[in-house]
Amino acid sequence: MSQSSSRPFVWGTSTASYQIEGAVAEGGRTASIWDTFAHTPHKVERSETGDIACDHYHRYKEDIALMRELGINAYRFSVSWPRILPDGRGKPNSQGIDFYNRLIDELLVAGITPFVTLFHWDLPQSLQDRGGFTKRDIAGWFSDYAAQTAERLGDRVKHWIILNEPSVFACLGHALGVHAPGIADSKAFFATTHHLNLAQGTALKVLRSVNGSFELGTTLNLQLGIAADGSEASSLMAQRHDDLWNNSFLGPLLAGCYPDRVLPDLETFIRPGDLEIARQRVDFLGINHYSRVHVKATPKAPLGYEHVSPPAELSRTSFGWEINPQHFRDLLFWVHNQYQCPPIFITENGAYFDDSFSDDGKVHDTRRVEFLDRYINAMLEARSGGVDIRGYFVWSILDNFEWAAGYRPTFGLVKVDFNSLKRTPKDSYYWYGNFIKEHP
Ligand code: FCB
Repeated sequence: MSQSSSRPFVWGTSTASYQIEGAVAEGGRTASIWDTFAHTPHKVERSETGDIACDHYHRYKEDIALMRELGINAYRFSVSWPRILPDGRGKPNSQGIDFYNRLIDELLVAGITPFVTLFHWDLPQSLQDRGGFTKRDIAGWFSDYAAQTAERLGDRVKHWIILNEPSVFACLGHALGVHAPGIADSKAFFATTHHLNLAQGTALKVLRSVNGSFELGTTLNLQLGIAADGSEASSLMAQRHDDLWNNSFLGPLLAGCYPDRVLPDLETFIRPGDLEIARQRVDFLGINHYSRVHVKATPKAPLGYEHVSPPAELSRTSFGWEINPQHFRDLLFWVHNQYQCPPIFITENGAYFDDSFSDDGKVHDTRRVEFLDRYINAMLEARSGGVDIRGYFVWSILDNFEWAAGYRPTFGLVKVDFNSLKRTPKDSYYWYGNFIKEHP
């Protein structure tokens, strides 16, 4: 076993503000780009919105009681920027701050450490109206928001995650237009990619000066590409996917550079000094992983390729995502060997399977139990093999609003009835609780 194995391990669950909070027009909150997007008909399946979601804004005590009972020692959630700064910039909203104060205090009483994500995609609409992440100004807007939030919550919150999955935000939101803000334009995509790195670096610098004892990190979605067919073109595009999705975010942060092959697309946005700002010391790297991606060269697609379904013989979740725990383990070795990597937290992993109530009134989600068991063990193998992994967070504690797919994909350890909002722990909830007890 590596020496890191002797440290107490962090076992947690993750959520994001827009996916669970609801109360979108309460407590001084203004619209985010996800409110706008979801309220545009047909952008989200069945035109569902996060207006109510899990109503966690009002039911957070009940949800924290479920977490306490589960036995997790950490909870990753995100702060909603338009709740903290209704104008996107300037004066903070005390009602928004108070909500997070109550949430954090309740967590601490339950013995649960908060890991706070500053940006999980719900950009204030007012800033999108000024160009959002396609503009360099975002670095200043974002770092001001980060500082204002950390100054108010940082007496109790030590662990800060700057961004959630910048690659997904850039690609799905700005190249493909299937997530908010719904832009499908490759120039906007490349601008956003660079400005995410710039904003992240700027915020990291600012937060270090707010409090030198903060534990600062960021969360990347790492999913390697594999050619979907035997063609040379698809192999090249799998490499392109790796460049754009994985290395364009790992590189600037951990090595101060972009992949050479991407530079021609990004050059017009990079100013002298930017890469020094993007490269910052981080105390940890958050990794979200769901599956590897099968990439097919598609010359007409915005980036020249598409992500396609895995071959029929491979097992998959109800989302069609490949189930491959060995690949997860290998990915952890890959990032460890490829980069000067700080300690790692798996900040999201989990699976959507259709679950339903059985006659006994319970939810026997055996496929999720099996999935978590195999993925957690794959992670533990990487850890025993020398990768410094400090914690693991299941996505998610609750079924929730899964972005463009609405409420259909159920990822929760706890089932939520979106009419009554009643919560019912599934078998996976009890399984995870036992697993934690046996692996302190
Ligand atoms: C990730 C997101 C998270 C959730 C899971 C299923 O890409 O970070 O909010 O939707 O996927």
